[in-house]
Amino acid sequence: MNDIQFNDKVAIVTGAGGGLGRQYALDLAKRGAKVVVNDLGGARDGSGQDQSAADKVVEEITTAGGTAIANYDSVSTMTGGAAIVDAAVSAFSRLDILVNNAGILRDRSFLKMTEEEWDQVIAVHLKGAFCVTQPALKAMKNNNYGRVIFTSSTSGLYGNFGQTNYGAAKLGLVGMMNSLKLEMSKYNIMINTVAPNAFSRMTEDIFPAELKDKMHPKFNVPIVTYLCSEENKESGLIFTMNAGWFSRSSVVAGTGVCLGDTQRDVTAEEVRDRFEDIKSLEDAQPYTSGAEVYNLCAPLFT
Ligand code: NAI
Repeated sequence: MNDIQFNDKVAIVTGAGGGLGRQYALDLAKRGAKVVVNDLGGARDGSGQDQSAADKVVEEITTAGGTAIANYDSVSTMTGGAAIVDAAVSAFSRLDILVNNAGILRDRSFLKMTEEEWDQVIAVHLKGAFCVTQPALKAMKNNNYGRVIFTSSTSGLYGNFGQTNYGAAKLGLVGMMNSLKLEMSKYNIMINTVAPNAFSRMTEDIFPAELKDKMHPKFNVPIVTYLCSEENKESGLIFTMNAGWFSRSSVVAGTGVCLGDTQRDVTAEEVRDRFEDIKSLEDAQPYTSGAEVYNLCAPLFT
């Protein structure tokens, strides 16, 4: 018996034709959501397209007694984003949940990276989230309800060799969430970010083959399902996960050191001499806005 249900809720999962997105869509549908299975059906690098990816997942859902429709638009244009949201609202009259999951890879070490490799990755992950989320939030705001997921990566949060384009896009999504959670809080719209890890088409040549079952994409589903549920009241958080392990990641700020007094110039030597204290993360905290962080230097203004 599943307690968390999505009866009367309408969800969009982008890039749901395979990998993680397929698993999110299957679970939301199993729990009663009407799901728009979006997928362009391209190759891992974003080239080409194939409608059968989304169609197959829709068939799986409907065969199991659920409700789903396919959508094949690319997330990376405003026209595509609008069409994805229109598909949900036209078919099911509302929108409650958006899982921004679609993604591609164009890995290359930074000094060899081409402008196209940079632009394509930013277009799908970062601009794509803008293109779909903006029309989605307009629809959600009408109902004063919404749950939105952005998909980041430890590559952006912490780093990974050969992924400067991907890492920039993935951390960019955190920046987007940080402002959006403030703009949307009064509409009962919760926006959170996940950094998943799974053996999928995207990573099958990165992780050893023997981890295929242990890192099955399905192990990432539960926290996405929970964050998409009405029960979740958290917004603006980042969760990192792998193989059934779930953790919170955060951009924290240390308490810092007030070297100056807003009158005299502080020297580089003073910074050097207190550098260990300045860079210390002892008693570091997460904060919910930039303004809150600057309260740490409030003593300088009193
Ligand atoms: P995947 O390659 O299996 O699935 C991505 C899906 O997105 C594909 O079905 C693809 O056709 C679709 N897609 C790509 N471009 C699209 C576009 N412009 N419009 C619509 N659909 C598009 O990859 P996976 O592993 O399932 O990744 C899902 C998300 O999780 C991605 O955002 C990825 O960056 C992220 N992620 C995955 C990790 C992993 O270990 N697999 C690690 C960290 C993040």
